[in-house]
Amino acid sequence: ADIPVITIDGPTASGKGTLASGVAQKLGYHLLDSGALYRATALAAQRAGIPADDEARLAALAAALPLHFDEQGVWLDGENVTDALRREEVGALASQISAHPAVRCALTGLQLAFRRLPGLVADGRDMGTVIFPDAPLKVFLTASAATRAERRHKQLISKGFSANIDDLLQDLEARDARDRSRSTAPLKPAEDAMSLDNSALSIEASVQQVLDWWQQRR
Ligand code: C5P
Repeated sequence: ADIPVITIDGPTASGKGTLASGVAQKLGYHLLDSGALYRATALAAQRAGIPADDEARLAALAAALPLHFDEQGVWLDGENVTDALRREEVGALASQISAHPAVRCALTGLQLAFRRLPGLVADGRDMGTVIFPDAPLKVFLTASAATRAERRHKQLISKGFSANIDDLLQDLEARDARDRSRSTAPLKPAEDAMSLDNSALSIEASVQQVLDWWQQRR
């Protein structure tokens, strides 16, 4: 546990992924996008026709997920699913199945295994509260719902998906409400987390803020 970890938790489309990869790049650390694990489980479940409420089968699926990460993205059973994982319907299903304690438990070991030298930046909902509670720096990232809906909209359009901003806002708020209110590993700041609202911050400024905090911790 001497291997340093920076956790970045926050709601949907708050910019966690962008911030985490920016910080990881600057520090030369490994990167864990924990949402991708829940999304990959959701995609695999959808393909296998496993219903969202079948906790036991979903957990078995998650425990044996043929997942692989490299510079080209995320691979599921030999197929590059990086783009498929970003689809709204996959995110919505991920949010549903991630409420099952057995699914979360099945994905825990995989997440812990990302903690390797020289260090890790991990983003998600429960990185600081559940998975890496001993992390020396925990960030809770927020942005206004309107900002987040706009960002998600841009992201989807740039990938060639169609999207309606009002639907996105609704979906985002529903997903956040579900992530916040579930009994296992709800979305909430760790007690010792630093709060960062990036609604009006550039990516560079957000990355710099985290690096400044990291400097102060070391
Ligand atoms: O962050 P992302 O939108 O990719 O995550 C998709 C869903 O996976 C979230 O809505 C959340 O329900 C779930 N998730 C989680 N715990 C994490 C990361 C994601 O429950 N650490």
